[in-house]
Amino acid sequence: MFFRLMYHIVLPIYVIFVIFSSITLNRSQNHFLVILLGILFITSIYLESIYPRYKKYISAIELILLLLFHFTSQLNWCFSIYIILLSKFLFQIRGALKGIFLGFVMIAFYSVIRISYTPLDSYSILAIGSDFLTSLAVVLIIQYIIEVERQKNVLKEEKKREELRLKEEKMNLLSEMAAGLAHEIRNPLTIIQGFLQHSKHNQYNIQPWYDLFLSEVKRMNKLTTEFLQFSKPNVSLYQSHSIHECLTTVISLTESRANSLGHQIVYREYNSHLSIQMDFDKMVQVFVNLINNSIQSMVDSGTITIRLLEINNNAVVEVMDTGIGINKADLEKIFNPFYTTKPDGTGLGLSICQKIILDHGGTIEAASTLNHGTSFTICFPINSAE
Ligand SMILES: Nc1ncnc2c1ncn2[C@@H]1O[C@H](COP(=O)(O)OP(=O)(O)OP(=O)(O)O)[C@@H](O)[C@H]1O
Ligand SMILES: [Mg+2]
Repeated sequence: MFFRLMYHIVLPIYVIFVIFSSITLNRSQNHFLVILLGILFITSIYLESIYPRYKKYISAIELILLLLFHFTSQLNWCFSIYIILLSKFLFQIRGALKGIFLGFVMIAFYSVIRISYTPLDSYSILAIGSDFLTSLAVVLIIQYIIEVERQKNVLKEEKKREELRLKEEKMNLLSEMAAGLAHEIRNPLTIIQGFLQHSKHNQYNIQPWYDLFLSEVKRMNKLTTEFLQFSKPNVSLYQSHSIHECLTTVISLTESRANSLGHQIVYREYNSHLSIQMDFDKMVQVFVNLINNSIQSMVDSGTITIRLLEINNNAVVEVMDTGIGINKADLEKIFNPFYTTKPDGTGLGLSICQKIILDHGGTIEAASTLNHGTSFTICFPINSAE
């Protein structure tokens, strides 16, 4: 706004004033030429804002027109126009040294033209000195303004970038949460879908599974509620539960799907007395995830063996499959969020399992032999968890 006011209004008014003064004082030898050059100079100033791409060339033309205008008007008052033009150039270039050099060049031009129509006495020599000092002061003041503005812009940019980064982080977190939620809801949905398809196909009466469906729907409902609160495991939900009971629930949920794909789940070795403080539904999530992975890893009919043992005061659950296995390099990545080798996988299953197990004070480890199978060992310290 201020720039427009200065260059598009004040500057043209000043040029018109110089034209008027030059003609009135009879300084100009050629009235028509001074008017023409004045108009051309003002036009060039406007042209620059219309064609900013040609700024460089138009700036050179502006300077030449000003020199000619000054020479024809023969008035020292043109000095102010030089200063206004200099200030405009200073906003276009970078660096104090360049600015001082430009200021000196412009005032040198001005002085040469001034000498061409004024006698060179001690007054005009001193006036030239004063003009140089004025230009130096203008350059320094404008450089200062530019520097302050630049610093302000840097701060503004930094603030903007920080806001953007925070927004991005929030978005990432949100998408991670959303993906996690979708993943966890998909498991019970797949179970219900499997049941429904199976019973539709075989004209089964699904009434006996009503309770199972209901508990799965409840689980989904609970999951969404928890995810909405971006829950850490809710400590108040930690109660002493039998791990055996948890595993039989998981098996009842996954067995029919495994069987329909030609696999069997073997759960013969178990210590039914082992219990730990747990969030039952979350623990169900963990084992459903592991068994789903096992089912997906077995191309031909295979076996998933689950064992529950007490080893060195730890409750140890093993989930073993006879699937395609994982090579050594990939084994290190399987717990990374979003690592997946499946076209429709989210890669969140194992990372969620790991988080839940860690929240329960336990550990999870994987071992695998390519083309033979994979086993996951989950360990819960019995004493510290109880
Ligand atoms: N039992 C297993 N046998 C072979 N590979 C496995 C097994 N479990 C996990 N993996 C490998 O680890 C990767 C990550 O598993 P994770 O459960 O985290 O995600 P996912 O199964 O790919 O996706 P989603 O769980 O969303 O279906 C899998 O893509 C697979 O390559
Ligand atoms: Mg998975």
